[in-house]
Amino acid sequence: MLRLDDHPSGRHFLQIPGPTNVPDRILRALDHPTIDHRGPEFARLTLEILDGLKKIFQTDGPVVIYPASGTGAWEAALANTLSPGDRVLMFETGHFATLWRKMAAKFALEVDFVPGDWRSGVDPALVQQKLAADKAQAIKAVMVVHNETSTGVTSRIPQIREAIDHAQHPALFMVDTISSLASIDYRHGQWRVDVTVAGSQKGLMLPPGLSFNAVSEKALAASKAARLPRSYWSWDEIIASNRDGYFPYTPSTNLLYGLHEAIAMLLEEGLPAVFARHQRHGEATRRAVCTWGLELLCRNPEEYSNSLTAIQLPDGHDADRFRRLVLERFDMSLGTGLGKLAGRVFRIGHLGFFNDLTLAGTLCGVEMGLGLAGVPHRAGGVQSALEYLSAASDAK
Ligand SMILES: Cc1ncc(COP(=O)(O)O)c(C=O)c1O
Repeated sequence: MLRLDDHPSGRHFLQIPGPTNVPDRILRALDHPTIDHRGPEFARLTLEILDGLKKIFQTDGPVVIYPASGTGAWEAALANTLSPGDRVLMFETGHFATLWRKMAAKFALEVDFVPGDWRSGVDPALVQQKLAADKAQAIKAVMVVHNETSTGVTSRIPQIREAIDHAQHPALFMVDTISSLASIDYRHGQWRVDVTVAGSQKGLMLPPGLSFNAVSEKALAASKAARLPRSYWSWDEIIASNRDGYFPYTPSTNLLYGLHEAIAMLLEEGLPAVFARHQRHGEATRRAVCTWGLELLCRNPEEYSNSLTAIQLPDGHDADRFRRLVLERFDMSLGTGLGKLAGRVFRIGHLGFFNDLTLAGTLCGVEMGLGLAGVPHRAGGVQSALEYLSAASDAK
């Protein structure tokens, strides 16, 4: 029989880019007795959560909650807004953009999938060019993964918004923020995104199992005419029930307790401080990588991700063997290379419930692991990160 906490002494370091470490405060919130989801106490819980989510997504519009992983919220975004045969514009930024594209194709959408090198984000100039060339305005949606969790590359959403505006194109704008929400600045309202897709298990510091659609008025209007079949994912019934604090199905009561606590923690810290904390940890990690003499997968400094760092190993060195060694010796999980990056790349998650010393421990495990695995590198990466962290906190 499997033991659920089969780890040696001390905390396991869960440094994959999601699911992330769940804070004790949230674990304690999950550990309350389940209540009647049709009773008055539950309605108060829902209404407080829905109000708090607006602050996290930075929107005045509705946020729909699904008892599903992020993939469910991807499906909901498509099924609520589009019709069979609709054209959509997507970009091959990495593994997750590729999976979302596959889903769109299964829904009989016609995908214009702009090829990419899995090392760069979406080029706003290309968005403008593609939309300007679409004289018939046949493209119904532009779909972008904000932070590619497979590559550690963050696309520039405000610039992409501007590109859509400059092209004077009416396409819906859909953004996957599964590994950026509550880690990297993201403003559904101000950036006039129509559907934001998010999940519970990353910046929100919750276990997997909840996902979200933040929805604009334009997306709601599109949903009235959209003809893709949908039932469970349909926004209208959920939004109608939510008005009184309820759901049209049995909600994940205990995960919602956790979400209530996560929102409280994020708002207590303040979103600007949350984003600044992730920025510092991203920068400290990149300094360590640079000192080690290893190569970041992300090519463009403007697109460095602050929630994770993907690192390439030199030819002839297997990233999965390195990760296995780190797990066995130091009880730390690092992210694997996904899709065509398998075996070549490992990823350090530095998002969610995380502080300077969590990062220091993580980087120590990586530096020791590089030595044990015989990966050629220069010593001193941890030291560079520590110097940056001390100086940056002095400045604060
Ligand atoms: C950017 C991104 N999109 C979509 C997904 C899919 O979400 P899930 O695995 O929760 O279904 C993930 C998962 O890691 C992701 O990182």
